[in-house]
Amino acid sequence: MNLIMKMLAAPATVLALWAVSAQAATNDDIAKRLEPVGQVCVQGQECKGMEVAATAGGGDAKTPDSIIAKHCNACHGSGLLGAPKIGDTAAWKERADHQGGLDGILAKAITGINAMPPKGTCADCTDADLKGAIEKMSGLK
Ligand code: HEC
Repeated sequence: MNLIMKMLAAPATVLALWAVSAQAATNDDIAKRLEPVGQVCVQGQECKGMEVAATAGGGDAKTPDSIIAKHCNACHGSGLLGAPKIGDTAAWKERADHQGGLDGILAKAITGINAMPPKGTCADCTDADLKGAIEKMSGLK
């Protein structure tokens, strides 16, 4: 009886350890795994917090709303990976205050910062495009 219990317990322990180590991941790994979710959201189908997506689309014309819907909302809509949330002006202001204002955080958005990818994945956005999106998300001018 005891032997059987031990035999059953051993693989269970191995499994538990495996599960724990499989959980360990860097922010980068997490961001990669979440990428498909972001892409699904970008399609503008059913996706929580995607109200802005409704205004997206419409050719090449970039508006703050379309940029946010296509590129920024994936993280900034929900605060993914610690991103300041859309509309949470206090959180954005706090950052701006520490980085020399809107242009300071714009510079960080261009180069990328920690889990925030360069240009927030909008590779063909101009600085002005990004600034418009940041103004809209933050409510700062
Ligand atoms: C993959 C997720 C992701 C996407 C997509 C993304 N961001 Fe971010 N963003 C973040 C995270 C995370 C932070 C916080 C980084 C930190 O301070 O550690 C951040 C921070 C920022 C900041 C503040 C930088 C600072 O100096 O504190 C700005 C501005 C910003 N994002 C703009 C944008 C814009 C504009 C877009 C869309 C064009 C965008 N982000 C898309 C994740 C993202």
